[in-house]
Amino acid sequence: DWTAAHIVEELIADVQAQVGEEGRVLLGISGGVDSSTLALLLARAVGERLTAVFIDHGLLRLGEREQVEAALRPLGVNLVTVDARKEFLGALKGVSDPELKRKAIGREFIRAFERETAKLGHFDFLAQGTLYPDVIESAGGAHGDKSGAANIKSHHNVGGLPEDLQFKLVEPFRTLFKDEVREIAQLLGLPDHIRMRHPFPGPGLAIRCLGEVTEEKLDILKRVDDIFISGLREFGLYDDCSQALAVLTPIQSVGVMGDERTYSYTAALRAVTTDDFMTAEWARLPYDFLATMSNRIVNQVHEINRVVYDITGKPPATIEWE
Ligand code: XMP
Repeated sequence: DWTAAHIVEELIADVQAQVGEEGRVLLGISGGVDSSTLALLLARAVGERLTAVFIDHGLLRLGEREQVEAALRPLGVNLVTVDARKEFLGALKGVSDPELKRKAIGREFIRAFERETAKLGHFDFLAQGTLYPDVIESAGGAHGDKSGAANIKSHHNVGGLPEDLQFKLVEPFRTLFKDEVREIAQLLGLPDHIRMRHPFPGPGLAIRCLGEVTEEKLDILKRVDDIFISGLREFGLYDDCSQALAVLTPIQSVGVMGDERTYSYTAALRAVTTDDFMTAEWARLPYDFLATMSNRIVNQVHEINRVVYDITGKPPATIEWE
C-alpha cells in the first residue's frame, strides 16, 4: 500500500543498492520540485557522495537561487551553485527567435554543466528526476502521444543532458506521479513554497522577455514577476491558478506621470487554470486584485507605464508567449 513514508524507505534502499558503498552521484538541480525532492532523497541515501549542481543562468526569478540554497543546504544536500549568468547572456545576444533561444540555452546549459562537473572529480552515476509520465511520453504509445497543435514548442528542459556522458542513470521517481513526489517532498522537509510551486520552464524568463534578452530587460521582468507572484500568494489566489507569469513585451507606449509624458514598456500578466497544460483557460482573477497589481507594478517599476491581462485560452494561444 502506498504511503509516502513507506515509499521513501523503499526508494532510499533501492538507491543504496544501486549506488553501492563507494559510488558518487551527480545531480543537476533546476529549482523545481522534482530535482529538489530528488536531492533530499539522495542526500538521505548516500550523504556526501551526492553532489548537486545548480546552474544559475540568470533567467531565474528574483531570489530563486537563494531560496533553493536555503531549502537544500540545511537538509544536508552537498550543493554547488554556479554563476553562469554572463555566459548565458552572451549566448543569447542577438537571438530573438523563441526556438533559437531555447536551443542556445540548451547548448549553453550543457557546456556549463560539463565545465563545472569536470572540476568536481569523477562521478559514477547521474541522477535524474524523471517521472512516470515522462517515461510513457518518451516511449510513445497511447498516453504518450502528445503531438499536435497543443505541443508545438521544443521544450528544452534545462537538465536535458548530453547522451554520451559516461554515467549510469539513477532515476528513483520513474514510477511516480507528480502528486506522489509532492507528498514525498513534504515528508523530506522541502518548504511549501518550492513544493507547491507552479511549473517554471527550463529556459526561464528568457521566453517571457519577448525578443532579444538583455540584462536590463531581465531586471525589469524579474521585478514585475515578483510583484505579481507575491501578490497572488498574499491574496490567497496562488493555488487557484495552475500557472501564473509576467511577460515583458517590446511594446513602448505613451503615458503620463505627474506632469511628464512617458514612453515606456508594456507588461503583460497571464494566469491560467488547466489539468494537463495541453489546453488551458485564462484565470478569472478578481478585478480588484488586478487593479492592485497594476498599481503596484507601475508605481514600483518605473520602466513600465502600462499593464495588460491576457484573456486568451489555449488554444489558440499558448501559456507562454514564446
Ligand atoms: P505552452 O506555452 O506550450 O506551455 O502552452 C505548456 C507548459 O510547458 C511549459 N513550457 C516549457 N517547459 N521548457 C520547459 O521546461 C520549455 O521550453 C517550455 N516551453 C513551455 C510552460 O511553462 C507550460 O507549463
